[in-house]
Amino acid sequence: MRCWSQLVGTVVYAFEQLRVEGYIESIVGSGSYVARNLPDEFFRTGITTAGLTGVTRVMRSALSKQVRKILASRLLPTPPRQKGNAFRAYEPAVDAFPTALGGRLSGRRMRQASVRALAEGDVRGYKPLRTAVAAYLGAFRGVRCVEDQIFVVSGTQHALDLISRTTIDPGDTVWMENPGYGGASCVLEAAQARVRPLPVDCCGLVLPSKGLQRARPKLVYLTPAHQFPTGVIMSLERRLEWLAYAGRSGCMIFEDDYDGEYRFRGKPLPTLQGLDKAGSVIYACSFSKLLFPTLRLGILIVPQNLVDGVVALRTIADRYAPYLEQAVLCDFFTEGHFGHHIRCMRELYAERLSVLLESSRQYLSGLLDVQTTEAGLQTLGWLCDGIFDVAASQAAARRGVEVIPVSYFASTPLVKQGLVLGFASAKPGALRSGVERLASALAELA
Ligand SMILES: Cc1ncc(COP(=O)(O)O)c(C=O)c1O
Repeated sequence: MRCWSQLVGTVVYAFEQLRVEGYIESIVGSGSYVARNLPDEFFRTGITTAGLTGVTRVMRSALSKQVRKILASRLLPTPPRQKGNAFRAYEPAVDAFPTALGGRLSGRRMRQASVRALAEGDVRGYKPLRTAVAAYLGAFRGVRCVEDQIFVVSGTQHALDLISRTTIDPGDTVWMENPGYGGASCVLEAAQARVRPLPVDCCGLVLPSKGLQRARPKLVYLTPAHQFPTGVIMSLERRLEWLAYAGRSGCMIFEDDYDGEYRFRGKPLPTLQGLDKAGSVIYACSFSKLLFPTLRLGILIVPQNLVDGVVALRTIADRYAPYLEQAVLCDFFTEGHFGHHIRCMRELYAERLSVLLESSRQYLSGLLDVQTTEAGLQTLGWLCDGIFDVAASQAAARRGVEVIPVSYFASTPLVKQGLVLGFASAKPGALRSGVERLASALAELA
């Protein structure tokens, strides 16, 4: 009797399972039948190319004009990583990150997490982290703010996206460095800003003539600590000129402090934000370059009048940054690991830069004039007359060397042709071999 009831139970269970998976349909008072539309039809694999084209066509028409414009823009494709990694421009020495320490801090934070920490986030970010960041940036970079003005975001790109959506209406003018960081102009163009390139000289972004100044931009994008990609450090005089202009015209300045902590001589320079008295500067920095890129954490500091707007936008988008990463980063600051790591990286990068300069003198003279730099993760090399930067970067790629043509970051033709060389992420041996391979690639073109 027990066996029989077990068997009935199994059959009933099997029918129920077939029903929830959609293989049979049950009609009350009639019975169970094989479903008219079997689920396997929807799970078919091996879609043909013809099928895919149809799907792609439908999806394309679903895209907004704005997104289609972004797809057509010159977003920088990240080339596949090469062995040895010379001269990847955007990367810090990720292999020098103390992962064992990170693991210990994460484990401790997870074990000790309160119910409140797991259930509730703050749209501005984890408060103890904001307190620690405010203290650090105040002491080392002269940033002046209260915690309410700080947002923990996923990086500079996210910060700029939030700011462009908070401040820009379609058709508003934005002034942009030329050459300049393509990732920034893409975000601004996606917000339907009219991005106007301005030249960069040896003191930083040049203020336009009085006549053009009347065009009044809504926003000016600047990398004053270490202009990307030229490496120019904005002079104090130029900083004050820009701040005075912003105060007069009412425009905002977006200060992208992407690698300002890495200064090899003297102390890191004070930020524009710290010099600003009119509340015109929006400040952003990123842990992508300070720790490692996939951490996806950064800091955005906004003037008081933008706080509510950013809070509102953030609330309807991703709400807030993840708790665990923020809590561990907070421990990095409060226990002194962050300061220690930055000091070690400054030394490491200064050493790698000198290896690059030394082997460039040995192998690249007459082909590429590699510039020294006082800060950052990358430098510039000017090509000798007759070698074009795109051709040079392609020839280098054929030899497994990654260099980015400067013209890639320019929206008007440049007087000189050059290459961007990252020196932070490659070990000395890889840098030396990269220089030798680059030399033979350029010799072929000269
Ligand atoms: C000048 C500059 N700004 C901003 C970014 C974006 O950084 P994040 O990873 O924080 O979005 C980069 C990335 O390489 C950069 O080179």
